[in-house]
Amino acid sequence: MGRARAAIILAAGQGTRMKSDVPKVLHEVAGRPMLDWAIATASAVGAERTIVVSGPHAPLVGEHVRRTLGPDATVIQDRPLGTAHAVRSAEHALEGFDGDVVILYADAPFVPAERVRDMFSSRATLGGIIILAFEAKDPTGYGRIARDADGTVERIIEHRDASEAERANRLCNSGVMCADARALFQLLALVKNDNAKREFYLTDIVALGRAAGVPTHVLVGQESDAMGVNSRAELAAAEKAFQHRTRLAMMEAGVTLIDPDTVYFAYDTQIAQDVVIEPNVFFGKGVKIGKGARIKAFCHIEGAEIGEGASVGPSARLRPGTKLGPAAKIGNFVEVKNATFGPRAQASHLTYVGDADVGARANLGAGTITCNYDGFDKYRTTIGEDAFIGSDTALVAPVKVGARAYTGTGSVITKDVPDGALGVARSRQANIEGWADKNRAKKQKPKDKS
Ligand code: UD1
Ligand code: CA
Repeated sequence: MGRARAAIILAAGQGTRMKSDVPKVLHEVAGRPMLDWAIATASAVGAERTIVVSGPHAPLVGEHVRRTLGPDATVIQDRPLGTAHAVRSAEHALEGFDGDVVILYADAPFVPAERVRDMFSSRATLGGIIILAFEAKDPTGYGRIARDADGTVERIIEHRDASEAERANRLCNSGVMCADARALFQLLALVKNDNAKREFYLTDIVALGRAAGVPTHVLVGQESDAMGVNSRAELAAAEKAFQHRTRLAMMEAGVTLIDPDTVYFAYDTQIAQDVVIEPNVFFGKGVKIGKGARIKAFCHIEGAEIGEGASVGPSARLRPGTKLGPAAKIGNFVEVKNATFGPRAQASHLTYVGDADVGARANLGAGTITCNYDGFDKYRTTIGEDAFIGSDTALVAPVKVGARAYTGTGSVITKDVPDGALGVARSRQANIEGWADKNRAKKQKPKDKS
């Protein structure tokens, strides 16, 4: 297994360019806060400790981390004095940790776990410090990596401090760095702020390490892996990159997308082979779709499990807690929330099903509504196997319709309907012979005279 692993995630930046009351790192890409992308990477590479460095201006970040990772997983960098200072803020929290540390940025969501694993492996074989680098199309703003003849890194020069010649170098620092914890904190203690920004640069540990016999090696990755988000436009660019990549991966895995550019996935969308997705479909988080299902055009789906061969839409909305059995059918203008549908059960048109269990092969007619909420509490509706709910039935929960039972069209069902029975709850029809003809004759007379 090798040495113990920890991660330090930097999230103390101000994020002013987002123009937002929400801290930058809590803005979402593909339905997941950017910070959680970094936390997921840390966990995927086997970090046994993860420390998130947040700023005093954004208490929501600390709260988020305490909720998701635990009370000791966050530290505050009291003043934004630079990346070296930020990493040092985590020293106390990692006291007693003996192993390798990777430094990640909370505003760079796409650093692949495989690359970080490669960095840990490189450290195991080469020792020293490992940095993730990339060849930038436009290197403006990035730290440039100056290498020696032997390939090890001499130093990193921040863009602002670089000469014209140094700026021509397109090998850039992603910011992701892997080092032995003790060596890292020893070197950080030596960093000074004599540079253009008057900041303590994490990147200075490269030259300091070299002088102290701790060499730095680069691992060259893709520029897209290092993509950072500082503004709403960059947030949209990150989203776009994710969607593009995911559409290709879905098709590669055997999913048909009729018009890929109009289908939006979340970070955790799971879709089995031979699912067909028609144009203009949005998936929120927590969606899983079984083999051969079809999602018709214009659906919004989140927190839903869709069984094999099921059919959803067009224009359906599936909300969290929806579970559709195999070959179930949800038709147009149907909304489902916190409800299960058994195999082959169907609601084909204009229906709301919330907090309900629908048995196998049951059929909900057009306009069926579960009245699940009384303004204070929610109640459940249960519909038995093979039941038939007449069109425009209002099911006032809590209520049960038995197996094989019917409800009469237009009924307001407030009492349980036994198995095999018919529940009718509406006033009887009365016909008044000749009324319409007489009425028409009366109304038309004055007009005919004039
Ligand atoms: C940094 C690197 C640069 C690299 C680039 C990649 C340094 C000195 N430079 O530059 O070599 O090419 O990232 O994007 O490290 N942060 C804190 N506290 C601070 C300062 C920063 O938590 O006091 C966090 C920021 O929120 C951000 C990250 O650290 O997530 C990077 O800081 P930033 O100021 O954006 O560094 P760059 O100048 O982009
Ligand atoms: Ca930056």
